[in-house]
Amino acid sequence: MSDFTYNKGDFGTKSSRTGEFNVERTFLMVKPDGVQRRLVGEIIRRFEAKGFTLAALEMVKPTREQAEAHYGVHRGKPFFEGVVSFISSGPVVAMVWEGDDVVALSRKLMGATKPADSTPGTIRGDFANSIEQNLIHGSDSPENAELEISIWFGQ
Ligand code: PPS
Repeated sequence: MSDFTYNKGDFGTKSSRTGEFNVERTFLMVKPDGVQRRLVGEIIRRFEAKGFTLAALEMVKPTREQAEAHYGVHRGKPFFEGVVSFISSGPVVAMVWEGDDVVALSRKLMGATKPADSTPGTIRGDFANSIEQNLIHGSDSPENAELEISIWFGQ
């Protein structure tokens, strides 16, 4: 468990989009396929190289309850059972990252969910070819980031 306090003054750049600081935190998770394929280091390297700050990291084998809570918004969809059992099938690396516009920019680094749409140069575009086994999860909004951080880190 980590202390997530940060100081906006620690970040040296302003958002190119707004000209203002927009320091956020997000939840990223290397999925079981990323751990098994030994891509944890490569994935972390890309976020560090972009200038984001790793604030917390834990390797954990998700419980079914955690997986169901994490993908709760997809309950009832045809892939819900599959994604829940896949995420709880082996260890994942759960992380909190901080930085300017980290929620939106981390989704760009990850690439699109569907293999046909993920651009080379992104994590999924370079390494994934499955809509389920696509290596990494990232929060899609600051609100969902806080929800997911509370599911995985209890705060
Ligand atoms: S949706 O349906 O557009 O709201 O889905 P999305 O927001 O892109 O996220 C879906 C997550 O579930 C995983 N997953 C699948 N999605 C779609 N179809 C199938 N068959 C499927 N199987 C698994 C997908 O990888 C997304 O995971 P996360 O961890 O959120 O990226």
